[in-house]
Amino acid sequence: MKTDVTAHGLDEAGCGIGDADGRHLHVADLLPGERAEVAVDHTSPHKPEAWARVVRRIGEPSPARVAPACPAFGRCGGCTWQHLAYPAQLAAKRERVIAALGHQPIAVTEVRPSPAELGYRNKGKYVVGSAGNGDVILGAYAPRSHHVVDTLGCRVVAPIIDEVAVWVRGATAKAGLVPYDEKTRTGELRYAIVREAEGDVMIVLVVTSAVVRTKLEKVANAMANHPAVRGIVTITNDRRDGAIVPSGSTARVLLGHGYLVEKLAGVPIEVGAAEFLQVNRAQAAAMYARVAELAQPARRAVDLFAGLGGIGLHLARAGTEVIAVEIDRDAVAQLRRAAEAAKLPLTAIAGDAGKIADDVRARLGAAPDVVIVNPPRKGLAGAEELVIELAAPRVIYVSCGPESLGRDLAALAAHGYQPDMIEPFDLMPGTAQVETVVRLIRTSSRG
Ligand SMILES: C[S@@+](CC[C@H](N)C(=O)[O-])C[C@H]1O[C@@H](n2cnc3c(N)ncnc32)[C@H](O)[C@@H]1O
Repeated sequence: MKTDVTAHGLDEAGCGIGDADGRHLHVADLLPGERAEVAVDHTSPHKPEAWARVVRRIGEPSPARVAPACPAFGRCGGCTWQHLAYPAQLAAKRERVIAALGHQPIAVTEVRPSPAELGYRNKGKYVVGSAGNGDVILGAYAPRSHHVVDTLGCRVVAPIIDEVAVWVRGATAKAGLVPYDEKTRTGELRYAIVREAEGDVMIVLVVTSAVVRTKLEKVANAMANHPAVRGIVTITNDRRDGAIVPSGSTARVLLGHGYLVEKLAGVPIEVGAAEFLQVNRAQAAAMYARVAELAQPARRAVDLFAGLGGIGLHLARAGTEVIAVEIDRDAVAQLRRAAEAAKLPLTAIAGDAGKIADDVRARLGAAPDVVIVNPPRKGLAGAEELVIELAAPRVIYVSCGPESLGRDLAALAAHGYQPDMIEPFDLMPGTAQVETVVRLIRTSSRG
């Protein structure tokens, strides 16, 4: 079926959204304001939505259309907004936040732009695949498929990451490591992760238990010649559920060190193979500093979903006593060591923010002045009870999921928390992702 449509929005996958025949049409490679004759490929049986492709463009391209920076754009499925000029990306991200939060008593500020649009990622994640001619590919799955597209040459990772990834491909091919085949569930190497901190690089090879150890040793010998490589670890993953590094995995050191040293709030902290760290270091630092500023004055704070302490360490640096709660035990151990060495007033507790109320209460001498939450994309998911129980006069919510943020803000409003500041930050240029910092003031203890 063919139809004529003008896009008025952009979805997360980078498709233009237009309306036709009572449906939302998602059209690949059509920017807001652009018009085209499109062919509908798939219609949802559940909701008034369909997916289409351009057959013939009508009229002028959008003035916001730009040449994507990456050679694999459109095939790799990663940065789906790279064909949109950066100011238009920021405007679209703000619209996404406004749409998700519904009616709020205060305005959403402009999105704070990232200091860099390219080369900002401190981590590259690569799926390992086979080219038809037997060559090893390091790349990503093509959109809606498990076909691996070569992403070497990616401009979004720090240049040293791409350089090391090229070496990894060469070394693994030379060592004869067999790329994993999802269909037959055979092979040795599944994923490669390259992390960078302070110019040092760590490589994580995710292998199956069929891997031949001598081949890994050959890779280690080759990679030892790269001056930035501080260590290589392996993680064994035989699972079929798509998890790259299953939680609870153990990293085995193959070469050098099993960690890098990152600086958060100027505090050196070890980062291993799997701990969460924001990928855009410079913009994350700006956001953490802003959160710490918005939290003051605060003598006592609780930092829920603390990770390696990006937020908590900034607060502790400002003299606030912090209780940090994090589910990842490795991250908690590293944060404890870092805070102790820096003699900062931060206590890290390992546990589920939704189930740890007794422990937090026992360690708090008095009610906190501020509670910070920075949950994963699904939102508080049970931890709202602790936030409400702590009854701090201020809550700062740092969210990477505008939709779950909207739901959680409604739940907190029912307990008297009203936003007095909503400030989005762009930590991932070229993508639909947006981080939102919301400060909430307790206006009553309703509920
Ligand atoms: C978005 S990250 C934020 C980390 C940190 N605030 C930062 O800026 O780097 C979310 C963190 O929540 C942790 N997490 C996930 N579920 C959790 C839970 N139920 N309780 C406590 N922490 C959890 C994850 O391990 C991750 O470190």
